[in-house]
Amino acid sequence: MELGGILDIASNHGKTVGLVPTMGALHEGHASLIRRSVSENDITVVSIFLNPTQFNDPKDLERYPRTLESDCKILEECGAQIAFAPSVKEIYPNADTRHFSFPPTDEVMEGARRPGHFNGVCQIVSELFMLVQPNRAYFGEKDYQQIAVIKQMVNAYKNETIPSIMISGREVNSDWARIIRIVPCPVIREESGLAMSSRNALLAPEEKAIAPIIYQVMQCSKKLGLSVDKTRQWVVDAINAVEGLEVEYYSIVDGDTLADVHSWDEAESIVGCITVYCGKTPIRLIDHTRYK
Ligand code: PAF
Repeated sequence: MELGGILDIASNHGKTVGLVPTMGALHEGHASLIRRSVSENDITVVSIFLNPTQFNDPKDLERYPRTLESDCKILEECGAQIAFAPSVKEIYPNADTRHFSFPPTDEVMEGARRPGHFNGVCQIVSELFMLVQPNRAYFGEKDYQQIAVIKQMVNAYKNETIPSIMISGREVNSDWARIIRIVPCPVIREESGLAMSSRNALLAPEEKAIAPIIYQVMQCSKKLGLSVDKTRQWVVDAINAVEGLEVEYYSIVDGDTLADVHSWDEAESIVGCITVYCGKTPIRLIDHTRYK
């Protein structure tokens, strides 16, 4: 039976559906999302789709780990009922020409450095929401900015500022946006403090040894009592002083709008978001910490 058929039966019987969207290479961080969905819904769907439209660097897409067999084992062990691993042709029978724009949230930090990235994320995530019609969708807070952008995308569909589209010859409306709840889940870290990520599998042992310094430095910066701008600079200098690590950016932002802040009183929630190049390849690592 097709995914749609199973989910129609589920909804006719009043069953709740949880969706955990992934690009595969599942690790303990994904497992925690799947377990949470299993505990809160009758049916959990885990999508495994390496979405080409969100990669602006073809080499990054090529390098991305592909581990479908072990992924299926993990999601089974976690109790998920459905693995949805479509092909690129099934998801994009035609090029997706939708253009999403939620300034400033999708234009700062990752948005500024990876043109088109969040547009691709919104394309695939909205299509998955339309196909699965979940009651809840689970995302790891490791990609802090991604969650902020996805929430805006859902709101845009709720307010019908984005038109319905055709998928595989059928018109799909935005009814899903009124049902869905986005559930952000805490970052899962290794004992060293390194945020779990599919990209960690690409780190050589000597790179894995220095990568935890990123989080350790951010944590340490909270105890210094410096101004926002000095804290930002201190974190950048401390990480750049480690051979093999190079900060791309460290932004201290309003936790809701993601706009830069310059004083600790400027917003109710303040988050530091970092991207660091690690090692010779180099591998790009993302992390964040909450100041308040
Ligand atoms: O966070 C990810 O793994 C991806 O961006 C997502 C949400 C699965 C969309 O491809």
